[in-house]
Amino acid sequence: MHLTNKEQAMCAGEHGSAVQKAMEIIVALGKIYGAEALTPVSSVQVSGVSYKNLGDAGLDFLREWADQGARVQVPTTLNPAGMDLANWREQGIAQEFARKQGEVIAAFAQIGVTTTCTCTPYFVGHEPEFAQHLAWAESSAVSYANSVLGARTNREGGPSALAAAITGRTACYGLHLDANRRANYIVDVRCPMKSVADYGALGYLVGRRVRRGVPFFKNLAEPLLTLAQDFSLPLYQSTALPDPAIDRLKALGAAMAASGAVALYHVEGITPEAIRGNMLATDAETLVIESLNEAYAALNGPADLVDFVGIGCPHASLEEIRQIAELVKGRRLKATLWVTTAARTRQLAEERGWVQSIKEAGGQVVADTCVVVAPVGAMGFRTLATNAGKAAFYAPGHSGLGVRFGSLQQCIEAAISGRWGGEK
Ligand code: F3S
Repeated sequence: MHLTNKEQAMCAGEHGSAVQKAMEIIVALGKIYGAEALTPVSSVQVSGVSYKNLGDAGLDFLREWADQGARVQVPTTLNPAGMDLANWREQGIAQEFARKQGEVIAAFAQIGVTTTCTCTPYFVGHEPEFAQHLAWAESSAVSYANSVLGARTNREGGPSALAAAITGRTACYGLHLDANRRANYIVDVRCPMKSVADYGALGYLVGRRVRRGVPFFKNLAEPLLTLAQDFSLPLYQSTALPDPAIDRLKALGAAMAASGAVALYHVEGITPEAIRGNMLATDAETLVIESLNEAYAALNGPADLVDFVGIGCPHASLEEIRQIAELVKGRRLKATLWVTTAARTRQLAEERGWVQSIKEAGGQVVADTCVVVAPVGAMGFRTLATNAGKAAFYAPGHSGLGVRFGSLQQCIEAAISGRWGGEK
C-alpha cells in the first residue's frame, strides 16, 4: 500500500502514540481488503456508544486512547447512546447505567467528538455532500449517506471509524471505488408500497436475498414522488425529495443493512448516482418482489398484548414526529410510547408543540437513544410494536422482546389500546 511521507511518519509514532495506534488499525484493514492507498475523509460517524454494548472493556479502551492524546481531525458525531442524556430519569434508566453511560460520553468528548448521539446525523447538520469520502459506522446512516446522498463510505466498525477520525483518513477500498458502486441486483418491485413499514418489509426481504450486494430498485420512483401530493408539507431537508419519501428511504436502507449487510442501493429516477448514469453491472441478477407478506410474517411474533411502542428507527424526522403528534392528539395511551430522535430534532418538534401533544397523550419523545441500544429488556418491557423493519429484526435478539410490526397507524392504535389489532 502506498503511504505518503506524512502517513509513514504517523505510522512510526512521530505524531504520538494515539495516532500511531489509529494508523495501525487503518493500515491493517487496508492490507486485508487490498487497498492501494489511504484517502482523506470529510467526516466520521462513530457507532458503539451505548454502555449496554460497550461494557467496561469498551469504556477502558476509549479512556486509554483519550489519555494517550487521541483527538479527532474531522467533524465526528456519535450513534445513539443507551439513554436520553438529559432526561434519563424520566425514561426510567437505572442510576448505575446512567453513570457509566455518562463516562462513555465524557471519553468521546475528551477525544473531541461532538456528542450528538443520533443515527440520523444528516437531519441535524452533519449532511455529507455528493462524492465526499467518509468513515461512517452506523449501518443505516452508511446506507443513507452512500445511497440517498451519493457520498462514499464503507460500513466501518466503531474502532475503525474512530481511528479514521483521529487520523483524518481511511483505507481506500470497497465503496470508495467507482467499480464497487455498480448494482449487481435489479429489484423489480411489483407490489403496492404504501407506508414506511412497507419499505422496511421490502428492505428485510431484499437484504436477506442480496446479503452484501448492491441492489438497484425499479418502480419505486412513482410511489415515492407522489407522496409530495399526499402530504402538503414544507420541506426542511436539503433535498429535492419530499420528507415522507426520505423517511421511506431511510427505513428501506436500515432494514437491508440489518437483514443483510447492504451498504449502498440505487433507486431508478431517485437516488443521485442512478440519476447521473448507468449504475448497473453487466451481469446484474433480477429479483422480482410480488408481495411483502413473507416479510410481515417473519417480523411479526404472536403476542396480542403490547406494552411498548417504539417509533423512530432510524431516528425520527421532524415530519414523522408531526404525524405522531397528530395521531395521538386528544387520545390517552395505555402502552409506553417512545418516539426516538436526535436532540436537535426534538427541540424543533418542541418549538412546534408536537412534543407537548405526545406528552399529553402519555408518550415520550426520547433523544439520544433508541429501542435497540437502550436497556429495554432490563426495564421490564415484554412486547414491542414498531413500524421499523430494523427494530423489528433486532428487538428479539438484542433485548429479548416479542415484536409486532406494522404501519405507524397500527402501532399508535396499539399504544392506545395496549393490544395489537385493537380491542377484541
Ligand atoms: Fe438507529 Fe437504533 Fe434503529 S441506532 S437505526 S434507531 S436500531
